[in-house]
Amino acid sequence: MKQLHSQDELEAWRQSLPAQAELVLVPTMGALHRGHQSLLEAALAMGQPVLTSIFVNPLQFERADDLQHYPRTLDADLQLLESLGVAAVYLPAANDIVPAGLQVGLDPGPVGSVLEGAARPGHFAGMLTIVHKLFQRCQPQHAWFGEKDAQQLFLVRRMVADLDLRVKIHACPTYREQDGLAYSSRNARLDTQARKEALLLSRALFAAGDAFVQGCQQPRQLEELMRAMFADSPLQLAYAAVVRECDFAPAEAGDGEDWRALIAARIQGIHLLDNLRLTTSV
Ligand code: PAF
Repeated sequence: MKQLHSQDELEAWRQSLPAQAELVLVPTMGALHRGHQSLLEAALAMGQPVLTSIFVNPLQFERADDLQHYPRTLDADLQLLESLGVAAVYLPAANDIVPAGLQVGLDPGPVGSVLEGAARPGHFAGMLTIVHKLFQRCQPQHAWFGEKDAQQLFLVRRMVADLDLRVKIHACPTYREQDGLAYSSRNARLDTQARKEALLLSRALFAAGDAFVQGCQQPRQLEELMRAMFADSPLQLAYAAVVRECDFAPAEAGDGEDWRALIAARIQGIHLLDNLRLTTSV
């Protein structure tokens, strides 16, 4: 596996690929876990060279302590990528990809300021700015993102459509632990008790999913059901919402019922999020 640090190294490697190769990019912030592995396996199954980027993007952290404590496990990450058969890893230096004095960034539009965007102001502008830079530098034909960050996935797709980017976006389903907790790099920061409490996110989503399947197609009731489950919990709920899959607007009864339930909460200062698709069509 090639390790690429500078833009020159990246471009030289890009040039060395066979002319007919379609480059597949899997952007990450490292601290790779089983969820990333499923994303990488799906990317590798395309039978094309896979490039992974690892960069903890300071632009998408609205809190300095969250950036500071974000898990960093580079040696283990490189071992995993190598064992899976990833062709190259791009490790840009912070002062190269986010130079001091950077002034222009991307505006994520209205969906960027609700839900996760409201809980973490500036997060999506910073995320899209770096993803756009990675697309510019790596020039992939394909890029993979996890459904676990559904609003991020939606906004990356909108950016690609709205800015005419020539990259095809692929999504990989959320990978869960046996008890339902969605894999996340931030889970590594949870102690045993917080890990137990964090299960409430997936439990609330599954409760909303069950109610939906049993015929409750009233989005506000589904939201209330999720919220009520947090009443006696040490988790601070940031939001529990049901949105339309097509545009992330609040779902309304009778509008087609292809919805997504989204939830985020904070425990011991650690922000966790999860979501579940609610659909009547399979
Ligand atoms: O999902 C992530 O890990 C990050 O938001 C991404 C897409 C790598 C951009 O920094």
